[in-house]
Amino acid sequence: MPTLTVNGRTQAVEAAPETPLLYVLRDELGLNGAKFGCGLGQCGACTVEVEGRAVLSCLTPIGVLEGRSVTTVEGLGSPENPGPLQAAFIAENAAQCGYCIAGMVMRAHALLRAVPHPSEAEIRDAMRFNLCRCGTHMRILAAVRRAAGEPATTGATP
Ligand code: FES
Ligand code: FES
Repeated sequence: MPTLTVNGRTQAVEAAPETPLLYVLRDELGLNGAKFGCGLGQCGACTVEVEGRAVLSCLTPIGVLEGRSVTTVEGLGSPENPGPLQAAFIAENAAQCGYCIAGMVMRAHALLRAVPHPSEAEIRDAMRFNLCRCGTHMRILAAVRRAAGEPATTGATP
């Protein structure tokens, strides 16, 4: 039986090793933050972090995660006590429907771990894998800048 370490907790899971992490998070562990968008690695809605790197959980079989540490959006804070990056997304009203937001937050979290004060170009480059059907990209960029301690608005155009 595979084991998974998610948000600091290690547990055995029922799913077969080839099962995509996204399904195990949502169906077995009750962690519904990461979303199923395309299931094909094309939208980023399912993004989580594996040891500091943004990973598409719809494409990642749990068998490759043995002994590795997974962080989901639930691991960064809670609705009652959001973490700093989550608080920045809230402050900038970055969510419209919200479907993309957990993936956006996790992509941004991995970026800020690697580059604490990214430039506008670095943020755009890192976030380009994640799509938002509602078109809130500018508010998402502002949230990432805010979390990085930069002015939330640079006058940049979409
Ligand atoms: S659901 Fe994983 S990239 Fe779209
Ligand atoms: S807020 Fe709706 S898809 Fe991004």
